[in-house]
Amino acid sequence: MLGGIRDVLIISTPQHTPLMQELLKDGSHLGMHFEYCVQEHPNGLAEAFILGKNFVGLDNVTLILGDNLIWGHDLSTLFKESIQRVEREDNAVVFAYQVSHPENYGVIEFDENSRACSLEEKPPHPRSSYAVPGIYVYPSDVVEKAANLLPSARGELEITDLNRLYLEEGKLHVSRLERGFAWFDMGTHDDLLEASNFIASLERRTQQKIACPEEIAFQNGWISRQQLEDYTSTFGGSAYAKYLHKVLKRHTP
Ligand code: G1P
Repeated sequence: MLGGIRDVLIISTPQHTPLMQELLKDGSHLGMHFEYCVQEHPNGLAEAFILGKNFVGLDNVTLILGDNLIWGHDLSTLFKESIQRVEREDNAVVFAYQVSHPENYGVIEFDENSRACSLEEKPPHPRSSYAVPGIYVYPSDVVEKAANLLPSARGELEITDLNRLYLEEGKLHVSRLERGFAWFDMGTHDDLLEASNFIASLERRTQQKIACPEEIAFQNGWISRQQLEDYTSTFGGSAYAKYLHKVLKRHTP
């Protein structure tokens, strides 16, 4: 939303997709448009572009993993610039972030000129400490490239294999997220707790929510004041409703 994206295809498991749909609906309350798609089997992240072929059409597209949390100053500017870069140069854009256990992720290596030179998925002996977070921007040819991928040894269509195709064609731009950014992969309960504590500390300290979709939609001008007021009333007397009342008050003309 901060990057200006309003059309979203939400892909999840057969069990979770209906729950997502019940929660997020068609997105119109946020001035957005949501569609849903079931991934029947865990066939890998790159299958998103096979399942989402018609949704993507001839557009450039972003893939964001729902269990990734990225926070940082001016992240939205960086993200918008990445989208513009893909439009301008027809390159794919991925990010790189230094972590203590790169072997759990896609790992990217840089040469002496700081250019990306290799990409490996969960290598037992990583060639660098730079992991690739789950946020990627692609030109529309990603659909065709994904359709030609072969499953990896673990039987998945790997996002890293897709990114390697762009790297080999000299069409991969890597943006390093250095100090000042926080990236969490919330794939385990411990990771989720760690990310929650991080967000709770920031929110307690600043009295501002880190990601309040209704607030962002309102600030972006995607929903009217009346729409936000109506929506806020559905949250009753909860802390979330109180926060949205504060947002409304802050923007009282
Ligand atoms: C996936 C990708 C990996 C990436 C990671 C980011 O791994 O395969 O390349 O670094 O997401 O969260 P997963 O966590 O799904 O195993």
